[in-house]
Amino acid sequence: MRRSLVVGNWKMNGTLASSELLAKGIIAGLDSNNADIAICVPYVYLPCVSELVKGTALALGSQNIADKSTGAFTGEISATMLREFNCKYALVGHSERRTFYGDTNESVAARFSQAQQQNIIPILCVGETLEQREQNQTFEVINDQLDAVINLVGVAAFNSAVIAYEPVWAIGTGKTASDEQAQEVHYYIRQYMAAKDQVIADKIQILYGGSAKPDNAKGLFAMPDIDGGLIGGASLDAESFLKIFHSI
Ligand code: 13P
Repeated sequence: MRRSLVVGNWKMNGTLASSELLAKGIIAGLDSNNADIAICVPYVYLPCVSELVKGTALALGSQNIADKSTGAFTGEISATMLREFNCKYALVGHSERRTFYGDTNESVAARFSQAQQQNIIPILCVGETLEQREQNQTFEVINDQLDAVINLVGVAAFNSAVIAYEPVWAIGTGKTASDEQAQEVHYYIRQYMAAKDQVIADKIQILYGGSAKPDNAKGLFAMPDIDGGLIGGASLDAESFLKIFHSI
C-alpha cells in the first residue's frame, strides 16, 4: 500500500513573518495521520522554516534546484545548499518554471539528478496545457516529460522520487480536473512506468496538483492512482491546508 503525501507549494508568496506563522499553524494542527506532509517554501525562508519544522512530522522542500552542482551560475541554488537546510524534497519542472523561466525537459532532468545526488527526493512535475489537451496531446507531452528524466538517470532512479501531475490549465484557475480526468492521467502515468518497471510503478507516489481545495480533495484522493496532492493557493492558509491533508 502506498503512503499518501500532501505537499504545499507556497510559490512566491508571503513575508518572513507570515511564513513563520503559517509553518507554526500547520505544525500545531498535525496529528498522527497515516500520511506524509511537506511544504516547499521560498529559498530565503528555508533557514527560518527549517528550524521550526525540526523534530516535527512536517517535512521541508524547495521549489526548484540548480541543474549543476557548483560554480559560476549566478542566482542558482545547489542541491548541497538545500541539503544544509534539511530539504527532504525539491520540486523540479513545475509548469511555472517551464513556462516563465525556460526550464526544458533536459534541464529538468538535470535538476532531478542533482537532487538525488544529495539524497533530496525530486518531485517531478508533469502536465499538459489546455491547448495540448484540446489537441489530444496530453499523453504524448507527459511521455516526453518522463522520458527526458528516464533517459538521463534511468528508471531505477524513480525508486526515490515523486511524480506530480499538474494539468497547466487547472493551476491557479479554480478549474480543477474532475476526479475521473485526473485519475485517467494518473493511471496512464502508472502504466507508462509499469511498462518499464512494475515494482517502481506500484510504489511511486503520484500527486495531483491544480486548484485542489478542501472541498474537492476528498474525491480526488479517493481515486486509486492519486496518492495525494501538490497544493498551491490553498496551502497558504494553515486551516485549509490541514483540511486537505486530513482528507486523505
Ligand atoms: P493551485 O493549487 O494554486 O492551483 O496551484 C497548484 C500548483 O501549481 C502546485 O504546485
